[in-house]
Amino acid sequence: MKVALITGGSRGIGQAMVKEFAGACYSVAFTYNENGAAAESLVTGLGEQAQRALAYQADVRDFAQAQGVVKAVQETLGPIDVLINNAGIRRDRAFHNMDPELWREVIETNLMGPFNYSRAVIGGMIRRGGVILNVASVSGLIGIAGQTNYSASKAGLIGFTKALSREVARFSVRVNAIAPGVIETDMTESLDENARRKLLAHIPMGCPGTPEQVARLALYLAGEDAAYVTGQVFTMDGGLS
Ligand SMILES: NC(=O)c1ccc[n+]([C@@H]2O[C@H](COP(=O)([O-])OP(=O)(O)OC[C@H]3O[C@@H](n4cnc5c(N)ncnc54)[C@H](O)[C@@H]3O)[C@@H](O)[C@H]2O)c1
Repeated sequence: MKVALITGGSRGIGQAMVKEFAGACYSVAFTYNENGAAAESLVTGLGEQAQRALAYQADVRDFAQAQGVVKAVQETLGPIDVLINNAGIRRDRAFHNMDPELWREVIETNLMGPFNYSRAVIGGMIRRGGVILNVASVSGLIGIAGQTNYSASKAGLIGFTKALSREVARFSVRVNAIAPGVIETDMTESLDENARRKLLAHIPMGCPGTPEQVARLALYLAGEDAAYVTGQVFTMDGGLS
C-alpha cells in the first residue's frame, strides 16, 4: 500500500486530498497547525480507512518538526511515496502597507514549509523513487495586486519545483506543481463580498473550483498514469490566468 503525506490536511484542499487518497487505497498521514478536533473528525470520518490514517499537529515552518513527522510516518505507515506540500496561507495587504512580519509569515509558511518537508523526505525518495506535489497558485504565475508576499512565495515554489525536478529525475522522483485559481475553501471565504464579486468577474468560467477537483488532479499526478510527467505546473483556474 502506498503512503502519502499531506501538509495542511485538516480543511479545504488538503482535506479533500486526504479523502481522495484514502479512497484510492493510500495510507494517508496529514499535518495541521490548529483545530485538532477537525483533524480528529476527519480521521474518524474516513471509516474503515481510518486505520491507515494519521494526523500530526506540526507547524510547517519548523524543520525539526518536519523531520519528526516524516520519521514517525515512516515508522508507522512505511516509506513515504507521495509528499504533497499543500499547507499555505494568505496575508493580503497593499505593498506600501506591507509589514516585514506579514511578508515573513507568508514566505516562511508557503516556501520554507515545502523546503522543510521536501528536505525531510528526499533522502528516502532518492533511494526508492517517489512523488512530490507542490500546491502553488495562479497568483505565482500572473501576480495579483495586494498579494506581493503570496505571489512571491508561490512563484518561488514553482521555481523550486522545476529545479528540484531536474535534480532528482534520474532517481525516479517526480516533482510537479498545481496552480489553482479560486477554489471554494476557508481561504476564499475570508474575502469580503466586494472583493469576491470582483474576483469572480475575472474568471471566464464565472465560478470558483472545488477542493475535490484539485484533489483528483493531485491523485492523477501522484499515480502511474503520470509516470512520465515531471517539472510541470498544472493550472486549474476556470480560465483566470
Ligand atoms: N483556496 C484557494 O482559492 C486557493 C487558490 C490557490 C492556491 N491555494 C493554495 O492551496 C493550499 C490550500 O489552501 P486552502 O484554500 O485549502 O487553505 P485553508 O486555509 O482552507 O487550509 C490551509 C491548511 O494549511 C494548514 N496550515 C496553515 N498554516 C500552517 C502552518 N504554519 N503549519 C502547518 N499547517 C498550516 C491549515 O491547518 C489548513 O489545514 C494553500 O497552499 C493555498 O495557498 C488555494
